[in-house]
Amino acid sequence: MFYYQPRRGGALAGLFFLLLPVFLPSLFSPLGHASPSVFSEWNAPKPRHSRLLKSVLQGQSSNVEQSDLWTPLVNQGWKACELSASTPGLPQETQGYIQVFLDGGLNQQRMGICDAVAVAKILNATLVIPHLEVNPVWRDSSSFMDIFDVDHFINVLKDDISIVRELPYDFSWSTREYYATAIRATRIKTAPVHASAKWYLDNVLPVLESYGIAAIAPFSHRLAFNNLPMDVQRLRCKVNFQALVFVPHVRALGDALVSRLRYPKKNGAFGTEYLQEVTDVKGEQEAGKFAVLHLRFDKDMAAHSACDFGGGKAEKLALAKYRQTIWQGRVLNSQFTDEELRNQGRCPLTPEEIGLLLAALGFDNTTRLYLASHKVYGGAARISTLRELFPLMEDKKSLASSDERAQIKGKASLLAAVDYYVSMHSDIFISASPGNMHNALVGHRTYENLKTIRPNMALLGQLFLNKSIGWSEFQQAVVEGHENRQGQIRLRKSEQSLYTYPAPDCMCNA
Ligand SMILES: *[C@@H]1O[C@H](CO)[C@@H](O)[C@H](O)[C@H]1NC(C)=O
Ligand SMILES: *[C@@H]1O[C@H](CO)[C@@H](O)[C@H](O)[C@H]1NC(C)=O
Ligand SMILES: *[C@@H]1O[C@H](CO)[C@@H](O)[C@H](O)[C@H]1NC(C)=O
Repeated sequence: MFYYQPRRGGALAGLFFLLLPVFLPSLFSPLGHASPSVFSEWNAPKPRHSRLLKSVLQGQSSNVEQSDLWTPLVNQGWKACELSASTPGLPQETQGYIQVFLDGGLNQQRMGICDAVAVAKILNATLVIPHLEVNPVWRDSSSFMDIFDVDHFINVLKDDISIVRELPYDFSWSTREYYATAIRATRIKTAPVHASAKWYLDNVLPVLESYGIAAIAPFSHRLAFNNLPMDVQRLRCKVNFQALVFVPHVRALGDALVSRLRYPKKNGAFGTEYLQEVTDVKGEQEAGKFAVLHLRFDKDMAAHSACDFGGGKAEKLALAKYRQTIWQGRVLNSQFTDEELRNQGRCPLTPEEIGLLLAALGFDNTTRLYLASHKVYGGAARISTLRELFPLMEDKKSLASSDERAQIKGKASLLAAVDYYVSMHSDIFISASPGNMHNALVGHRTYENLKTIRPNMALLGQLFLNKSIGWSEFQQAVVEGHENRQGQIRLRKSEQSLYTYPAPDCMCNA
């Protein structure tokens, strides 16, 4: 399966990475904002599937039965487990302090936080609120407390583990700068990927016993999903699904966006008093439904896929150059032709292709679609076909004033947090971009039995390669190929993440 991870500057290089100067100042072209004279990387991409597109725009697609598209999922026999009763209480005495330094974007850090709580539990240690590293791709310096409601976090977990916001004075020397400048006895840097509970007991507990503190970095993906005691697994569920909530201002902005999507008539008259407004609007108008489309189509991802996205020779050259700069050309996909990659479903869907997918599934031009997206490679031009198909498409910018967005502006993690929040409150979520955000939301929505459409990349790749396919064949194949990809429970298999597949570890038979 095509599985994209953003450049892992963090995960592998760990702490030391940040001592390097930020070396990417100009790699992200200011797409979508640049004037044409600055930007010459592609010729505005043209629709690549114009026959299909024409059928939709001429209304030939409207004859399809889609009555159950917006119907919520039926009860599938699973519900969230009762979590409070499942974990034995606090240890009598703490073994010391556990510190972790977390790489990656918001959702990778989220999993790291859950795992850090689990490791602290395994060791009977006190957890220091995790330190979030600045990711070289996203470059957001927001701390845990800037993103997550720390009081709620500590309170929900108060009977499970001890948590401190910062180290006591005696240990205040234990900082990331301290670990970045020399080899230190209290730094654990050899945790293997998916380490067992025993590994932590054998390797970290002695450090705690000797020094009263252990700093683990790198820590992402360093705790196994298999062979852990049930109470540790349940605790991970509790952290992810109950203890981690966003700070109040992110939730308030998210609520305002959701309200404006559900009650569009009031839209347009927003000021800074969005909290007030949310409570006023309800009641006068029936709540409308909306879908969220998560679309990650940035240059990093486009280049890494090595696929052709129709921007012509200039775009191909620009992406090849990017691959050379970032990965020294070592990109597995480069060995394949575009056609081979598409056949295997290894090319990210373009916004145009996503639009056709949605239309085939029965979404029409009255659909309220919220676009959860950061930067789209190719900017507004790349999005234009999607917008043509879904004229009521909104995003953070179109729904909230710049005053309202002031607190999250330019902060990738907070922007992603708002999108996460809106995604969790949508009737339907469609993720067109595999990765950490996709996995986190697929898991969280499974936990709450919410409809989530997972595009069948290989099928779509093959359909889009067929230049002679007509709309009705396309639509039929798409509908059939997605019948079982709408949120049906998939039980976690060995080695898989319980944050992506919360049943059966976090979910019990209803
Ligand atoms: C939506 O599509 C129908 C045809 O299916 C068309 O008549 C109508 O004008 C479209 N509405 C918008 C807002 O584009
Ligand atoms: C943690 O505490 C529990 C009892 O609360 C005990 O059974 C277990 O052995 C302790 N583990 C460690 C590593 O101290
Ligand atoms: C392309 O689609 C047409 C119409 O559905 C079908 O008859 C044909 O076999 C397809 N070609 C390939 C290569 O799959």
